[in-house]
Amino acid sequence: MKKIAPSILSGNLLNLDREIELIEEAGADLIHVDIMDGIFVPNITAGWGLVDAIRNKTDIPLDVHLMIDRPERYIEDFINSGANILTVHQEGTIHLHRVVEKIRELGASPGVAINPATPISFIQEILNYVDIVLIMSVNPGFSGQEFIYSSLFKIEKLCKIISARQLETLIEVDGGIKVLNVADVSNSGAGIIVSGSGIFGTDNYKETIELMRERL
Ligand code: DX5
Ligand code: ZN
Repeated sequence: MKKIAPSILSGNLLNLDREIELIEEAGADLIHVDIMDGIFVPNITAGWGLVDAIRNKTDIPLDVHLMIDRPERYIEDFINSGANILTVHQEGTIHLHRVVEKIRELGASPGVAINPATPISFIQEILNYVDIVLIMSVNPGFSGQEFIYSSLFKIEKLCKIISARQLETLIEVDGGIKVLNVADVSNSGAGIIVSGSGIFGTDNYKETIELMRERL
């Protein structure tokens, strides 16, 4: 079954407690947590303390997206804090294979993310070692940006490679996804849909998630 992962930091930051309850009630499959360091991306969010706090509040699996430079420095902290899926950027580390292996060894599911300008060919070698590939459909750093439509070709291309190799790798797509375009993303081959403003910018999260699910 395809999964919907609300990006929690697009919610009301002064009332995350309530936002988590609401997306739980709305039937979210995962909670996507964006970690930004102000170096890899031009924005700063929070550290593993936030993951720990969310973990203590809910049993929904946590999908932690590290938009940080040299993520190998903090892998252990994020996993100890309760990350179930830990995704690092191909562009953020020189030793991608080592990082991915470490994530698995420490008990989380490893994911690799690529920015809009990074070609699929850059993850050919790591594909067999990760559970998830996250295709960024906006330039990482901010919620509320326009979906980059050429991402759909990347999703289709990756989908073909995964089938040809008979892998189980899930394709996750992140950035600019709303009820209106979720079908295009899903039809291209996405298995996990991340949505920030597309959910938290609406009045009724439950209704929005249900509408999205109908279109998957
Ligand atoms: C972007 C983040 C996304 C973002 C999604 O850097 O990785 O997860 O919060 O927000 P929307 O869906 O509003 O583009
Ligand atoms: Zn993200």
